[in-house]
Amino acid sequence: MISYYLGLSLFLFIIFIVLLFYISQAIAMIFFKVPTVGTPKKNLIIINDLLPKNELTTFFDLGSGTGKALFFFSKTHPKINFIGFETSIFAYLYSNLKKIIFKRQNVSFKFKNFFNFSWQKADYIYTYLWPSLMTRVETKFIKETNPKCVLFDSAFKLPNLTPKQILDKKRPCLYLYQKD
Ligand SMILES: C[S@@+](CC[C@H](N)C(=O)[O-])C[C@H]1O[C@@H](n2cnc3c(N)ncnc32)[C@H](O)[C@@H]1O
Repeated sequence: MISYYLGLSLFLFIIFIVLLFYISQAIAMIFFKVPTVGTPKKNLIIINDLLPKNELTTFFDLGSGTGKALFFFSKTHPKINFIGFETSIFAYLYSNLKKIIFKRQNVSFKFKNFFNFSWQKADYIYTYLWPSLMTRVETKFIKETNPKCVLFDSAFKLPNLTPKQILDKKRPCLYLYQKD
């Protein structure tokens, strides 16, 4: 009898978590119009190889989802301070749980709209977003970031700036932007 109730409780808990996931996805989609999908590994590998190993720098992931990109980069770059911004509560909580499990000191997540936070401190920025957001991303990138700041952009180009490099032409494409 006890095992029956335990099994039932576990089942209901899993249903609850799955529902929570879809509800938080739906809310994030309604307000921010971007699904929580992790970057394909091919793009992560390219970016990872370009990041400095021995410099103390700051990396922003604008829309960090479940933290896939940041956990990948931070494994081999302990000197970089990785900060993820996320508005989906489930993705944010899940990322923090992963941070505790993996004991990754150099990664943190903010439950914040990245348009309402200064990008001045970023040396590197990463985006894997949605076409409708790219004009605002471009405006803030031009206005706020330091001249050396590098923007890695998966999938959807900035509307006006020409990429300094196209790092991968296979979809989702990967672009590198720098103002200088
Ligand atoms: C396609 S996912 C990218 C996930 C992550 N960058 C990765 O590659 O593993 C985009 C995420 O951006 C989040 N997002 C969209 N607009 C946002 C905003 N203004 N502020 C914070 N997060 C946002 C969405 O909730 C979604 O989880």
